[in-house]
Amino acid sequence: MEGTLFLPVGPLRGVTRVPGDKSISHRAVLLGAVNAGPVEVTGFLRSADTLATVRAARALGVTVEEHGPGGEDLTVHGLGWEGLREPVDIIDVCNAGTLIRLLPGLLASTDMFCVLTGDESIRRRPMARVLEPLALMGASTWARGGGRLPPAALCGGRLHGIEYTMPVASAQIKSCLILAGLRADGVTVIHEPGPSRDHTETMVRYGGAQVQREGDPLGAGNTIVHPLPGDLNLGPIAVPGDFSSAAFLLVAALLVPGSRLTVDRVGLNPTRTGLVQALEAMGARVRVVVEDVAGPEPLGSLTTSQQELTAVDIGPDLVPLMIDEVPIWALAAARARGISRLRGASELRVKESDRLAATAELLRALGVRVKEVEDGLDIEGRPEGWTRGMVRSRADHRLAMVGAVAGLASDEGVEVDDAACMSVSFPDFAATIRSVSTPGR
Ligand code: S3P
Repeated sequence: MEGTLFLPVGPLRGVTRVPGDKSISHRAVLLGAVNAGPVEVTGFLRSADTLATVRAARALGVTVEEHGPGGEDLTVHGLGWEGLREPVDIIDVCNAGTLIRLLPGLLASTDMFCVLTGDESIRRRPMARVLEPLALMGASTWARGGGRLPPAALCGGRLHGIEYTMPVASAQIKSCLILAGLRADGVTVIHEPGPSRDHTETMVRYGGAQVQREGDPLGAGNTIVHPLPGDLNLGPIAVPGDFSSAAFLLVAALLVPGSRLTVDRVGLNPTRTGLVQALEAMGARVRVVVEDVAGPEPLGSLTTSQQELTAVDIGPDLVPLMIDEVPIWALAAARARGISRLRGASELRVKESDRLAATAELLRALGVRVKEVEDGLDIEGRPEGWTRGMVRSRADHRLAMVGAVAGLASDEGVEVDDAACMSVSFPDFAATIRSVSTPGR
C-alpha cells in the first residue's frame, strides 16, 4: 500500500472544531433504538465505527433517518426493547470495539438470537469480559476460542441482577452490564477497580433510569443499576466534539513552532480529560473553559500554544482517564526533556492494535529511544526533534494520527503506511489540519 507523507506545517492558528464524540455517538444510536419513541441526535459522528452502529440498529428493525448538510443529525425511531426485531443475518461491527461490547448487553434481555463479528482487529479482541457476566445474569453466550474471541453469539432471556467485580477498569464492560442490568429482575452492583468513562450512566439517567455511583468519581467505586420499569424516555441528544480527536490537535499545537490553537465545542467529561492533567504535569498550559452542560454532557473549549515540555511519570490512576490518548501523549513525551515513564497501561495491548508495542515501534522509527515493559513504556525525549521516518499504523486509526502529527511537527516529514484508517474516528483529520495551518516552515 502507498504511504501518505505528512510534511512539516507552519503555525497552527485560530479556532476549530472536531467531529462528534465516538463513544457518545454509539450510545445515542444504541439507546435511541430501545427508547420509547423517536430521539433527535445532533452532532453525530459519521465515521466507519459509528456508521456500523447505525447499520446494527437498522438490522434490529429500527428506522434511523439522517438529516443535516453532512448527515450529522439523526432521528432514531426507538421501538422499546420489546419492539426490536431479531436480526436475519450476522451483525458486522467492522472495527468498532464499543459496538461489539455494548450490543450484547442491550440484547441480553430479549429472546433474540444474534451473531456478532468484525474485522481482523476485532476478531483478536477479548469478548469473555462481557459474555461471562452476561451468562451469570442468565443469557446464553458462545464465542470462538473457548468463549474468548469474535465471532460471538448470544441468545438472551430472563435476566437476574448480579454483584460483579470487573477484572479491569473498562467502560465497555461496565456499559454492557448497565444495559443488561436495566432489564434484570433485581439490582445489579458493579465493582470497578478504577474509573472509566461514564457516558452510558449519564445517558440512561437522562432517559429516566436510576443508576448510582458510590466511591471516588474519578477512582475505584461501585455502580448500582436499578431495573427500569418500562422503556427509556430520552430527550434530544447533542453530541459534543470528541476530546479524543481534539487531543491530536492539542498535541500538534504544543509541538508545531509558533502555534496557538483553540478547539471549541469539545466534550469535557472529566472521565475523558486525563490528557490535560498529563500535559500540565509536563509544564504545558492548557486553557479549559466549560461552556455548557446540556444534552446531557459538558462541553467547552481547549486552548494551547507551542511550549517546551519536561518528562513526566504516568501511573495507573491517570491511565484510565486518558486511555485512548496514551499514544498521542507518548509523542509529546518523545519531545520532552528527560525520560517519561508510563505504567499500569496493559489494557492498551487489547485495543485496535497492541498500542504499547505499536507506539514503541512508531517512536523508534522516528529515532526516539523507547523501552517497552509489560504494562508501559519508558520514553527518552528528544527536544531537538526527530528524524525523517516511515511509520506503521497497524491499521489503527489513533496510531495513524500520531504518525501524522509527528510529521506536522517534524523537520522533514513522516510517512504513514496506512492513513485511510483515520476514517474510523476522524475522517476529516487532514482537512481540519489544513484549515488551521499557516504557511511558514
Ligand atoms: C470506550 C471505552 C474505552 C475506549 C474505547 C471506547 C467506550 O475502552 O478505549 O475506545 O466507548 O466505552 P475501555 O473503557 O473498555 O477500556
